[in-house]
Amino acid sequence: MGDLQNAGDDELLDLITTEDPRTMERLLLDARNITEKHYGKDVYFRGLIEFTNYCKNDCFYCGIRNANRKIERYRLTKEQILDCCRTGASLGFKTFVLQGGEDPWFSCGRVCEIVRAIRNEFPDHAITLSLGEKTREEYEQYYSAGANRYLLRHESADCAHYAAMHPAAMRLENRRECLYTLRKIGFQTGAGFMVGTPFQTAECLLADLRFLQELDPHMVGIGPFIPSANTPFAHYPSGNVNLTLRMVALTRILLPRALLPATTALGTLAGDGRERALTAGANVVMPNLSPRDVRALYSLYDNKICTGDEAAECVRCMSLRVRSFGFTPRMVRGDSLVPADRQS
Ligand code: SAM
Ligand code: FES
Repeated sequence: MGDLQNAGDDELLDLITTEDPRTMERLLLDARNITEKHYGKDVYFRGLIEFTNYCKNDCFYCGIRNANRKIERYRLTKEQILDCCRTGASLGFKTFVLQGGEDPWFSCGRVCEIVRAIRNEFPDHAITLSLGEKTREEYEQYYSAGANRYLLRHESADCAHYAAMHPAAMRLENRRECLYTLRKIGFQTGAGFMVGTPFQTAECLLADLRFLQELDPHMVGIGPFIPSANTPFAHYPSGNVNLTLRMVALTRILLPRALLPATTALGTLAGDGRERALTAGANVVMPNLSPRDVRALYSLYDNKICTGDEAAECVRCMSLRVRSFGFTPRMVRGDSLVPADRQS
């Protein structure tokens, strides 16, 4: 496969849409070789803490959207979050990822208090936040409190497609702006998108790749769309596993040093989905550290896996899966090789 770094739109569109098994195989192999050149066979483990399923937003695809009155809501306390970190640290994790809906109860002050408490107890661990769209000032305060990384999927880089998935109040331009701001503040920044959302075309996916090339993020989360009951998109089909793997591979080829998670959504659609993502260029997994009794309530989509196991069991299971495909589980900070921007 030629030098895809400089590929034109037509060539990329052909690869996005290819049905040819040999082309697909070659694409995945190229992606894997590039990953190994930069990161070897290491797969970084991150401990995921889903700390609130309240959300003020109403994304049409998302199971925890505000308008979904059918789910039970929860928030973890600061002590519960710290306990998750302690469990994670005792299992060897060096990175904690705090993710939640956009929950106004977790004001900037409360988030900073939690981040400071984690930073105080775990001075050498990486702290990743994934709390949605905030102001520059709020992001700056999170950073000053000790957070190092921020995940905010752009969801779709095509304006019309973004608008078809979100209420009018949510704008792609703001999402993009947030990502550039985060990067500028100094966060290791993660963007990303779902594959197979309603109304998505190959051109939308091309726009995602072009946007990623422009932003040059440290991390990119790519997972299939999976319908969620009681949402406007409940009756649309799930994304396609092979197309998702192709998008992971293309992202790896275009952004050789980015960190790419093998997502839980891919593991939900296919039993070996996460392992296959590793063979397509992914190099991060995020076992769940949330308390077991709230796991199922963080129901972004239907039939989510890993909701019944204790954290230790999740780690054991993921380690076995990673090893069985010839990769090496690594409980290290696993910083991205993409350089961080300096604070302006
Ligand atoms: N509130 C934060 C935000 O907006 O970035 C973080 C939580 S949000 C639920 C995390 C990600 O879940 C979203 O960026 C979206 O891509 C993914 N997600 C939501 N609903 C999904 C679905 N039905 N299928 C697959 N992924 C979904
Ligand atoms: Fe807010 Fe999904 S609508 S996290």
